[in-house]
Amino acid sequence: METKIFKINSPHDENIKAVGEILRKGGLAAIPTETVYGLAGNALDGSCAEKIFAAKGRPSDNPLIVHISSIEQWEPLVKSIPDSARALAEKFWPGPITIILPKSEIVPDEVSGGLDTVAVRMPENEIARSIIESAGIPLAAPSANLSGKPSPTSASHVIDDMNGRIDAIVDSGDCEVGVESTVISLAVTPARLLRPGRVTPEMLTEVLGEIEIDEAVFDKLPEGAEAASPGMKYKHYSPEASVVLVKGSFEAFCDFVNKNASEKTVALCFEGEEEKLCVPAVTYGCKDDPLSQAKYIFDALRKVDKMGAEKVFARYPENEGMGLAVFNRLIRAAAFNIIEL
Ligand code: TXA
Ligand code: MG
Repeated sequence: METKIFKINSPHDENIKAVGEILRKGGLAAIPTETVYGLAGNALDGSCAEKIFAAKGRPSDNPLIVHISSIEQWEPLVKSIPDSARALAEKFWPGPITIILPKSEIVPDEVSGGLDTVAVRMPENEIARSIIESAGIPLAAPSANLSGKPSPTSASHVIDDMNGRIDAIVDSGDCEVGVESTVISLAVTPARLLRPGRVTPEMLTEVLGEIEIDEAVFDKLPEGAEAASPGMKYKHYSPEASVVLVKGSFEAFCDFVNKNASEKTVALCFEGEEEKLCVPAVTYGCKDDPLSQAKYIFDALRKVDKMGAEKVFARYPENEGMGLAVFNRLIRAAAFNIIEL
Protein backbone atom coordinates (compact mmCIF):
# COMPACT_ATOMS: atom_id res chain seq x y z
CA MET A 1 0.00 0.00 0.00
CA GLU A 2 1.27 3.49 -0.77
CA THR A 3 1.17 5.75 2.29
CA LYS A 4 0.47 9.43 1.54
CA ILE A 5 2.44 11.83 3.74
CA PHE A 6 0.79 15.18 4.50
CA LYS A 7 2.83 17.95 6.12
CA ILE A 8 0.31 19.93 8.16
CA ASN A 9 1.25 22.81 10.44
CA SER A 10 -2.08 24.52 10.99
CA PRO A 11 -5.60 23.38 11.88
CA HIS A 12 -6.76 25.38 8.83
CA ASP A 13 -4.47 23.64 6.34
CA GLU A 14 -6.22 22.58 3.13
CA ASN A 15 -4.96 19.01 3.51
CA ILE A 16 -7.03 18.49 6.66
CA LYS A 17 -10.01 17.87 4.37
CA ALA A 18 -8.19 15.18 2.44
CA VAL A 19 -7.25 13.39 5.67
CA GLY A 20 -10.83 13.72 6.97
CA GLU A 21 -12.09 12.17 3.75
CA ILE A 22 -9.69 9.20 3.96
CA LEU A 23 -10.97 8.54 7.50
CA ARG A 24 -14.63 9.01 6.64
CA LYS A 25 -14.27 6.49 3.83
CA GLY A 26 -12.89 3.85 6.20
CA GLY A 27 -9.15 4.43 5.68
CA LEU A 28 -6.45 4.70 8.34
CA ALA A 29 -4.35 7.80 9.01
CA ALA A 30 -1.67 8.49 11.61
CA ILE A 31 -2.39 11.86 13.21
CA PRO A 32 -0.52 14.05 15.69
CA THR A 33 -1.79 14.60 19.23
CA GLU A 34 -0.18 16.48 22.13
CA THR A 35 0.82 13.16 23.74
CA VAL A 36 2.00 10.79 20.97
CA TYR A 37 1.00 10.16 17.35
CA GLY A 38 -2.21 8.13 17.01
CA LEU A 39 -3.24 5.59 14.36
CA ALA A 40 -6.79 6.72 13.59
CA GLY A 41 -9.81 5.06 11.99
CA ASN A 42 -13.61 5.31 12.24
CA ALA A 43 -14.52 4.40 15.84
CA LEU A 44 -18.05 3.42 14.88
CA ASP A 45 -16.96 0.79 12.38
CA GLY A 46 -15.66 -2.50 13.80
CA SER A 47 -13.87 -3.35 10.56
CA CYS A 48 -11.74 -0.20 10.90
CA ALA A 49 -10.69 -1.34 14.38
CA GLU A 50 -9.66 -4.68 12.88
CA LYS A 51 -7.56 -2.87 10.28
CA ILE A 52 -5.90 -0.86 13.07
CA PHE A 53 -5.02 -4.03 14.99
CA ALA A 54 -3.61 -5.58 11.83
CA ALA A 55 -1.49 -2.51 10.94
CA LYS A 56 -0.02 -2.39 14.47
CA GLY A 57 0.27 -6.12 14.91
CA ARG A 58 -1.71 -5.63 18.12
CA PRO A 59 -3.75 -8.28 19.96
CA SER A 60 -7.42 -7.48 19.38
CA ASP A 61 -8.45 -7.85 23.03
CA ASN A 62 -6.63 -4.59 23.78
CA PRO A 63 -9.26 -1.83 23.56
CA LEU A 64 -8.80 1.44 21.66
CA ILE A 65 -9.24 5.02 22.85
CA VAL A 66 -11.98 6.97 21.04
CA HIS A 67 -11.03 10.56 20.16
CA ILE A 68 -13.67 13.30 19.96
CA SER A 69 -13.69 17.01 19.16
CA SER A 70 -16.79 18.04 21.16
CA ILE A 71 -18.75 16.98 24.26
CA GLU A 72 -21.76 16.33 21.96
CA GLN A 73 -19.76 13.51 20.37
CA TRP A 74 -19.18 11.92 23.80
CA GLU A 75 -22.81 11.58 24.84
CA PRO A 76 -23.91 8.93 22.32
CA LEU A 77 -20.82 6.78 23.02
CA VAL A 78 -21.60 6.16 26.71
CA LYS A 79 -24.60 5.06 28.78
CA SER A 80 -24.55 8.30 30.76
CA ILE A 81 -22.07 10.92 31.89
CA PRO A 82 -21.86 11.21 35.68
CA ASP A 83 -21.03 14.56 37.32
CA SER A 84 -17.53 13.35 38.19
CA ALA A 85 -16.81 12.71 34.49
CA ARG A 86 -18.20 16.10 33.49
CA ALA A 87 -16.03 17.77 36.14
CA LEU A 88 -12.90 16.04 34.79
CA ALA A 89 -13.77 16.95 31.21
CA GLU A 90 -14.43 20.55 32.18
CA LYS A 91 -11.10 20.84 33.95
CA PHE A 92 -8.82 18.90 31.59
CA TRP A 93 -10.40 18.67 28.11
CA PRO A 94 -9.28 19.29 25.54
CA GLY A 95 -6.19 17.62 26.97
CA PRO A 96 -4.12 14.54 27.76
CA ILE A 97 -6.61 12.51 29.80
CA THR A 98 -8.81 9.57 28.81
CA ILE A 99 -12.02 8.80 30.70
CA ILE A 100 -13.52 5.29 30.83
CA LEU A 101 -17.30 4.85 31.28
CA PRO A 102 -19.86 2.12 30.48
CA LYS A 103 -20.32 2.11 26.70
CA SER A 104 -23.46 2.48 24.61
CA GLU A 105 -24.57 0.11 21.83
CA ILE A 106 -23.02 2.21 19.07
CA VAL A 107 -19.45 1.42 20.16
CA PRO A 108 -18.44 -1.77 18.34
CA ASP A 109 -17.03 -4.65 20.43
CA GLU A 110 -13.89 -4.56 18.29
CA VAL A 111 -13.19 -1.03 19.60
CA SER A 112 -13.87 -1.86 23.27
CA GLY A 113 -11.94 -5.12 23.02
CA GLY A 114 -15.09 -6.94 24.11
CA LEU A 115 -15.37 -4.91 27.35
CA ASP A 116 -18.62 -3.15 28.28
CA THR A 117 -16.78 0.16 28.76
CA VAL A 118 -15.29 2.71 26.38
CA ALA A 119 -12.27 5.00 26.79
CA VAL A 120 -12.74 8.52 25.37
CA ARG A 121 -10.53 11.57 25.08
CA MET A 122 -10.64 15.02 23.49
CA PRO A 123 -7.09 15.89 22.42
CA GLU A 124 -5.63 19.32 22.97
CA ASN A 125 -3.75 19.32 19.66
CA GLU A 126 -5.76 21.57 17.33
CA ILE A 127 -4.75 19.72 14.18
CA ALA A 128 -6.08 16.50 15.73
CA ARG A 129 -9.41 18.14 16.61
CA SER A 130 -9.66 19.73 13.21
CA ILE A 131 -9.14 16.30 11.56
CA ILE A 132 -11.83 14.72 13.80
CA GLU A 133 -14.21 17.54 12.88
CA SER A 134 -13.47 17.23 9.21
CA ALA A 135 -13.98 13.44 9.30
CA GLY A 136 -17.30 14.04 11.10
CA ILE A 137 -16.92 10.85 13.16
CA PRO A 138 -15.21 9.91 16.44
CA LEU A 139 -11.81 8.33 15.78
CA ALA A 140 -10.40 5.23 17.43
CA ALA A 141 -6.66 5.76 17.80
CA PRO A 142 -4.04 3.76 19.61
CA SER A 143 -0.46 5.00 19.54
CA ALA A 144 0.86 4.77 15.96
CA ASN A 145 3.75 2.37 16.69
CA LEU A 146 4.14 -1.30 15.87
CA SER A 147 2.86 -3.21 18.89
CA GLY A 148 5.56 -3.49 21.56
CA LYS A 149 7.72 -0.63 20.20
CA PRO A 150 8.12 2.71 21.94
CA SER A 151 5.23 5.09 21.15
CA PRO A 152 5.96 7.57 18.34
CA THR A 153 6.54 11.20 19.29
CA SER A 154 7.61 12.44 15.85
CA ALA A 155 6.45 11.78 12.31
CA SER A 156 9.74 10.05 11.52
CA HIS A 157 9.01 7.46 14.25
CA VAL A 158 5.62 6.84 12.62
CA ILE A 159 7.16 6.57 9.16
CA ASP A 160 9.70 4.02 10.49
CA ASP A 161 6.88 1.80 11.83
CA MET A 162 3.87 2.42 9.56
CA ASN A 163 5.04 3.41 6.08
CA GLY A 164 3.33 1.09 3.58
CA ARG A 165 0.86 -0.24 6.19
CA ILE A 166 -1.71 2.61 6.32
CA ASP A 167 -3.31 5.14 3.96
CA ALA A 168 -1.81 8.36 5.31
CA ILE A 169 0.59 9.90 7.80
CA VAL A 170 0.20 13.49 8.95
CA ASP A 171 3.56 15.10 9.78
CA SER A 172 3.13 17.94 12.29
CA GLY A 173 6.48 17.85 14.05
CA ASP A 174 7.21 16.67 17.58
CA CYS A 175 4.62 15.91 20.27
CA GLU A 176 4.70 18.21 23.30
CA VAL A 177 3.93 15.85 26.16
CA GLY A 178 5.73 12.78 24.83
CA VAL A 179 3.96 10.07 26.87
CA GLU A 180 0.41 8.82 26.32
CA SER A 181 -2.62 10.25 28.09
CA THR A 182 -3.58 9.59 31.69
CA VAL A 183 -6.23 6.84 31.68
CA ILE A 184 -8.82 6.90 34.48
CA SER A 185 -11.80 4.60 34.89
CA LEU A 186 -15.00 6.12 36.26
CA ALA A 187 -16.78 2.83 35.59
CA VAL A 188 -15.68 1.73 39.08
CA THR A 189 -15.89 3.35 42.53
CA PRO A 190 -13.64 4.88 43.66
CA ALA A 191 -12.23 6.10 40.37
CA ARG A 192 -9.16 4.10 39.33
CA LEU A 193 -6.03 5.39 37.63
CA LEU A 194 -5.02 2.79 35.04
CA ARG A 195 -2.19 4.65 33.29
CA PRO A 196 -0.34 7.72 34.62
CA GLY A 197 0.28 10.67 32.27
CA ARG A 198 0.49 14.46 32.12
CA VAL A 199 -2.57 14.78 34.36
CA THR A 200 -1.01 13.58 37.63
CA PRO A 201 -2.66 11.71 40.55
CA GLU A 202 -2.53 14.95 42.55
CA MET A 203 -4.41 16.85 39.81
CA LEU A 204 -7.03 14.06 39.66
CA THR A 205 -7.52 14.03 43.43
CA GLU A 206 -8.22 17.75 43.37
CA VAL A 207 -11.24 17.16 41.13
CA LEU A 208 -12.40 13.70 42.22
CA GLY A 209 -11.39 13.40 45.86
CA GLU A 210 -10.22 9.87 46.61
CA ILE A 211 -8.85 7.80 43.72
CA GLU A 212 -7.18 4.40 43.60
CA ILE A 213 -4.02 3.74 41.64
CA ASP A 214 -4.09 0.39 39.88
CA GLU A 215 -1.28 -1.89 41.06
CA ALA A 216 -0.21 -2.47 37.44
CA VAL A 217 0.96 1.17 37.36
CA PHE A 218 3.92 0.37 39.64
CA ASP A 219 4.46 -3.33 39.27
CA LYS A 220 4.34 -6.36 37.08
CA LEU A 221 0.96 -8.07 37.30
CA PRO A 222 1.12 -11.42 39.09
CA GLU A 223 1.01 -14.44 36.75
CA GLY A 224 -2.58 -15.12 35.64
CA ALA A 225 -4.03 -11.88 37.12
CA GLU A 226 -6.66 -10.07 35.03
CA ALA A 227 -5.55 -6.58 33.95
CA ALA A 228 -8.02 -3.72 34.57
CA SER A 229 -6.45 -2.16 31.51
CA PRO A 230 -5.62 -4.92 29.03
CA GLY A 231 -2.75 -2.85 27.60
CA MET A 232 -0.86 -3.25 30.88
CA LYS A 233 -0.34 -6.94 30.43
CA TYR A 234 1.55 -6.77 27.15
CA LYS A 235 5.23 -6.24 26.63
CA HIS A 236 5.56 -2.56 26.04
CA TYR A 237 7.77 0.27 24.86
CA SER A 238 10.61 -2.13 24.32
CA PRO A 239 13.69 -1.40 22.34
CA GLU A 240 15.50 -4.42 20.87
CA ALA A 241 18.19 -4.00 23.51
CA SER A 242 17.66 -5.35 26.99
CA VAL A 243 17.13 -2.48 29.39
CA VAL A 244 18.06 -2.45 33.09
CA LEU A 245 16.83 0.35 35.32
CA VAL A 246 19.55 1.23 37.83
CA LYS A 247 18.51 2.94 41.06
CA GLY A 248 21.07 4.93 43.01
CA SER A 249 23.08 8.17 43.02
CA PHE A 250 24.78 9.29 39.81
CA GLU A 251 28.18 8.41 41.29
CA ALA A 252 27.01 4.87 42.05
CA PHE A 253 25.47 4.64 38.55
CA CYS A 254 28.81 5.68 36.97
CA ASP A 255 30.72 3.06 38.96
CA PHE A 256 28.19 0.40 38.07
CA VAL A 257 28.21 1.21 34.35
CA ASN A 258 31.98 1.48 34.19
CA LYS A 259 32.34 -1.94 35.84
CA ASN A 260 29.62 -3.76 33.93
CA ALA A 261 29.87 -2.28 30.44
CA SER A 262 30.56 -4.49 27.48
CA GLU A 263 31.09 -3.55 23.85
CA LYS A 264 27.47 -2.81 22.99
CA THR A 265 26.36 -1.15 26.22
CA VAL A 266 24.64 2.23 26.07
CA ALA A 267 23.74 4.41 29.06
CA LEU A 268 20.38 6.17 29.22
CA CYS A 269 21.02 9.18 31.44
CA PHE A 270 20.06 12.78 32.13
CA GLU A 271 21.35 15.90 30.31
CA GLY A 272 24.93 16.76 31.21
CA GLU A 273 25.78 13.34 32.65
CA GLU A 274 26.97 11.82 29.40
CA GLU A 275 30.53 13.22 29.58
CA LYS A 276 31.24 11.38 32.81
CA LEU A 277 30.41 7.93 31.46
CA CYS A 278 32.82 5.55 29.74
CA VAL A 279 30.15 4.20 27.33
CA PRO A 280 28.09 5.90 24.60
CA ALA A 281 25.09 7.64 26.18
CA VAL A 282 21.65 8.86 25.17
CA THR A 283 19.90 11.42 27.35
CA TYR A 284 16.22 11.60 28.28
CA GLY A 285 15.63 15.09 29.65
CA CYS A 286 16.91 16.79 32.78
CA LYS A 287 17.28 15.16 36.17
CA ASP A 288 14.86 17.37 38.08
CA ASP A 289 12.44 17.99 35.24
CA PRO A 290 10.01 15.09 34.66
CA LEU A 291 8.22 17.07 31.93
CA SER A 292 11.40 17.05 29.84
CA GLN A 293 11.98 13.36 30.65
CA ALA A 294 8.47 12.53 29.39
CA LYS A 295 9.07 14.49 26.22
CA TYR A 296 12.26 12.64 25.28
CA ILE A 297 11.94 9.14 26.76
CA PHE A 298 10.42 7.37 23.73
CA ASP A 299 12.78 9.07 21.29
CA ALA A 300 15.69 8.01 23.50
CA LEU A 301 14.48 4.38 23.55
CA ARG A 302 14.35 4.40 19.74
CA LYS A 303 17.81 5.99 19.54
CA VAL A 304 19.49 3.22 21.55
CA ASP A 305 18.22 0.71 18.98
CA LYS A 306 19.56 2.79 16.11
CA MET A 307 22.95 2.72 17.86
CA GLY A 308 22.83 -1.09 17.87
CA ALA A 309 22.83 -1.34 21.67
CA GLU A 310 22.49 -4.80 23.19
CA LYS A 311 22.41 -3.70 26.82
CA VAL A 312 21.08 -0.43 28.16
CA PHE A 313 21.67 0.81 31.71
CA ALA A 314 19.09 3.49 32.48
CA ARG A 315 18.97 6.11 35.21
CA TYR A 316 16.02 5.72 37.56
CA PRO A 317 13.54 8.63 37.40
CA GLU A 318 11.60 10.12 40.33
CA ASN A 319 8.27 8.34 40.49
CA GLU A 320 6.08 11.12 41.80
CA GLY A 321 3.81 13.63 40.05
CA MET A 322 4.56 13.65 36.33
CA GLY A 323 7.57 11.46 37.09
CA LEU A 324 5.20 8.56 37.75
CA ALA A 325 4.30 8.50 34.03
CA VAL A 326 7.98 8.32 33.03
CA PHE A 327 8.69 5.64 35.65
CA ASN A 328 5.68 3.58 34.47
CA ARG A 329 6.97 3.55 30.86
CA LEU A 330 10.57 2.83 31.83
CA ILE A 331 9.82 -0.15 34.08
CA ARG A 332 7.94 -1.67 31.13
CA ALA A 333 10.76 -0.88 28.69
CA ALA A 334 13.01 -2.66 31.21
CA ALA A 335 10.59 -5.60 31.56
CA PHE A 336 10.64 -4.80 35.34
CA ASN A 337 14.37 -5.43 35.47
CA ILE A 338 15.54 -3.08 38.26
CA ILE A 339 18.85 -3.08 40.11
CA GLU A 340 19.11 -1.15 43.36
CA LEU A 341 22.67 -0.07 44.18
O1 TXA B 1 -2.31 9.61 24.50
C1 TXA B 1 -2.95 8.63 24.16
O2 TXA B 1 -3.81 8.12 24.87
C2 TXA B 1 -2.63 8.03 22.77
C3 TXA B 1 -3.02 9.09 21.74
C4 TXA B 1 -2.93 8.58 20.34
O3 TXA B 1 -4.29 9.59 22.02
N1 TXA B 1 -3.35 6.81 22.57
C5 TXA B 1 -2.99 5.65 23.21
O4 TXA B 1 -3.73 4.54 22.88
O5 TXA B 1 -2.07 5.59 23.99
P1 TXA B 1 -3.27 3.07 23.18
O6 TXA B 1 -4.28 2.23 22.49
O7 TXA B 1 -1.87 2.86 22.76
O8 TXA B 1 -3.45 2.88 24.71
C6 TXA B 1 -4.74 2.75 25.27
C7 TXA B 1 -4.66 2.15 26.63
C8 TXA B 1 -4.36 0.67 26.58
O9 TXA B 1 -3.49 0.34 27.65
C9 TXA B 1 -5.75 0.04 26.78
O10 TXA B 1 -5.66 -1.22 27.36
C10 TXA B 1 -6.42 1.06 27.67
O11 TXA B 1 -5.93 2.31 27.27
N2 TXA B 1 -7.90 1.04 27.49
C11 TXA B 1 -8.60 1.46 26.42
N3 TXA B 1 -9.91 1.25 26.59
C12 TXA B 1 -10.05 0.70 27.82
C13 TXA B 1 -11.18 0.22 28.58
N4 TXA B 1 -12.41 0.30 28.11
N5 TXA B 1 -10.92 -0.29 29.82
C14 TXA B 1 -9.66 -0.37 30.29
N6 TXA B 1 -8.57 0.05 29.62
C15 TXA B 1 -8.75 0.56 28.40
MG1 MG C 1 0.21 2.24 22.82
